[in-house]
Amino acid sequence: MNKEAYQFSYEVYDSVSELNDQDAWLVNEAREVTELAYAPYSNFNVGAVAQLANGEIVVGTNQENAAYPVGLCAERVLLSSTATLFPNIAIDTMAISYNNMNGESKHPISPCGMCRQSLAEYEHRVKQPIRLLLSGMEGKVFIIKKSNSLLPLSFGSVDLK
Ligand code: THU
Repeated sequence: MNKEAYQFSYEVYDSVSELNDQDAWLVNEAREVTELAYAPYSNFNVGAVAQLANGEIVVGTNQENAAYPVGLCAERVLLSSTATLFPNIAIDTMAISYNNMNGESKHPISPCGMCRQSLAEYEHRVKQPIRLLLSGMEGKVFIIKKSNSLLPLSFGSVDLK
């Protein structure tokens, strides 16, 4: 028997003011676009903003549905728009934030399992990692260099060969 270990590290900043100008701008935009979310069922508005390798900016917000499972997370809305509007263009950085209308928004959230799978597929597809900036409306910001580090031992296209 062998034991394997998986190590994961990320950067923690006390607030957006510690970030460089471009990262701070992306985080603030993600906070702002939470207003565009359609989340009447959870009251949990999520905003995502991506800076693409060609300089374009694409945003996404969660879009819920009365038939709950039909709802989409902000990250997957963003990935689908990006792949359609700018085919084969890599995403350099994606900022994600949220406004919890029922409570506080002081701690970063990180993508749900389904979005981690979608992020991993996108990275594989364009052959470039996506850097993540995670935050709430205030407080700490986490920076993760490659989104696929959030999904160890992931299932992917190689498994289908
Ligand atoms: N949600 C996102 O949009 N992104 C995440 O990373 C976590 C959860 C959405 C899904 C649902 O509309 C609401 O937040 C509550 O789960």
